[in-house]
Amino acid sequence: MGKIKKVGVLTSGGDAPGMNAAIRGVTRTALYYGLEVIGIRHGYHGMIHNHFVNLKAHSVSDILARGGTIIKTARSKEFMEAEGRKQAYENLKAAEIDAVVVIGGDGSLTGARVFCDEYFDIPFIGIPGTIDNDIYGTEYTIGYDTALNTVVEAVDKIRDTAGSHNRLFFIEVMGRDAGFIALNSGIATGAEAILIPEVVGQVENLKDYLEKGFKRKKSSNIIIVAEGDEEGGAFAIADTVKEDFRDYDVRVSVLGHIQRGGTPSAYDRVSASKLGFAAIEALMDDQKSVMVGFHHSELVLVPFRKVIKLKKKVDPEQMQMVEILSV
Ligand code: F6P
Repeated sequence: MGKIKKVGVLTSGGDAPGMNAAIRGVTRTALYYGLEVIGIRHGYHGMIHNHFVNLKAHSVSDILARGGTIIKTARSKEFMEAEGRKQAYENLKAAEIDAVVVIGGDGSLTGARVFCDEYFDIPFIGIPGTIDNDIYGTEYTIGYDTALNTVVEAVDKIRDTAGSHNRLFFIEVMGRDAGFIALNSGIATGAEAILIPEVVGQVENLKDYLEKGFKRKKSSNIIIVAEGDEEGGAFAIADTVKEDFRDYDVRVSVLGHIQRGGTPSAYDRVSASKLGFAAIEALMDDQKSVMVGFHHSELVLVPFRKVIKLKKKVDPEQMQMVEILSV
């Protein structure tokens, strides 16, 4: 690998609070090592359409506390096609960008891997950025902590009104393929049940649980549903349950994109800064096709190959714990 002189940085997929801290970490560390930094706006879409901007030290001033991403993000269908990736490669070459840091989730890192398998001479380093926390090889992804706290605050508020009216609430949280937000927000708010995509057939158990809860006359019930649950979203599940439990006063609340916004927590700012710094350090050490992540709170490098192939698992013991605690 030749000496790196110019590095591109992009954010891709769903935005996540803390992405700006990572952009700042990447930019300032790269400048420290004497590299030029190019912000690739709108993720892979911008790589294909030449949305390149120069980033200086002052370009990333005052962004630590801001949610979203200052270089914008997108989900690019074009980058999924060989033709799109070829165009992206040609644009990177023409702009003399000789390494790229990708901040994003599963789909974004898959895109990086596919690109690196086709074009070997531009090293890519990944940074896990998604509120879903569903990336194999790292116990933390940028934005998860802030999103979790947003959900907990919202559920606590819903609990107040649910209790006042003796109502059963289904609250839908984000997580298309993964239940980490649902599981941990459920634990943090004392939810009566948590329905996640990783576990099948939970609705029948839920009906048993509600039967008992009704007999004990619980004043409120909060059921957290991950949007990707295989039995449908919160509205579909609430409809099924309503048929059998006509005495329950049922309401549904979908938290939606509020979960992706807001000022990042201290934890997200610190962790994202560390990941941004580590990504450039990895490039300086001639690394390529790896994601920087955390294992037992220590920074680690994980090959894209593993990140893409393996699935991060929900701990079944935690699911059992939820049942025990929610009596
Ligand atoms: O990947 C993060 C995420 O927020 C998922 O939890 C959710 O399913 C998805 O993005 C929503 O994406 P969009 O904003 O493109 O609808």
